[in-house]
Amino acid sequence: MLSWLSRTASSSIGKKVLMALTGLCLIGFLVVHLLGNLSFYADADGAAFDHYAETLDSNPLLPIAEIGLLVLFVAHIALALRVTAQNRDARKKGYAVRTDHGARTPGSATMMLTGLVILVFLVVHLAHFRLQKAEGVSMAGLVRHELGKPLGAGVYVVGMIALAMHVSHAFQSALQTLGINHPKYTPLARKFSLVLGVVLGLGFATFPLYVFFLGGNA
Ligand code: HEM
Repeated sequence: MLSWLSRTASSSIGKKVLMALTGLCLIGFLVVHLLGNLSFYADADGAAFDHYAETLDSNPLLPIAEIGLLVLFVAHIALALRVTAQNRDARKKGYAVRTDHGARTPGSATMMLTGLVILVFLVVHLAHFRLQKAEGVSMAGLVRHELGKPLGAGVYVVGMIALAMHVSHAFQSALQTLGINHPKYTPLARKFSLVLGVVLGLGFATFPLYVFFLGGNA
């Protein structure tokens, strides 16, 4: 497994394949994360969300999942930096080994920018909701406190716009990278990718908008 990984990561196409796989795993995580967060809307006092957060916290497998997630993020970012540099060099030199697909679209051209905005958002997000988490602290209260501030809500919404743009291009691009390509289904996959990006971005953005404008479920 390790030797397969190092062999794959050393070729240009291999890097792109690993970037696509790590990206798809991150999308999977986002879907589960959003579904779990919806418990915030389940009742008026945030008890369902607190219960959900406590259940997650008491799971002994949580540290393993968190390390896995960290590895996925670090690998995805490192590979994205390498692949972007590779594509830039290939464009400059006119090589035939370009690893991006055909013409650059606004979605593909802004992947590094939206990725960097997501990265900044992640640091703020973890500082708000992971580092401040402590025994007996209500997670629903913490969410209301952080997202009730203009800066907290603003950073969250900007991060989610970047996420929507990133995923809208990324999902269908990852399918192409993995060779999942069909004249009939590829246009459908492109539409699905757009919908997925918008649903994830908008879905997560409802939390700051709800808390900031409507006061949350206090
Ligand atoms: C939850 C967060 C993220 C998800 C779900 C995600 C997902 C993806 C996926 C599925 C791809 C498509 C891979 C392909 O074209 O085969 C991709 C590409 C890319 N990602 Fe991410 N990503 C995330 C965060 C980031 C971050 C934090 C960065 C950088 C700091 C980043 C930078 C990039 C770049 C530059 C590409 C395109 C590289 C290229 O093809 O030229 N991503 N992402």
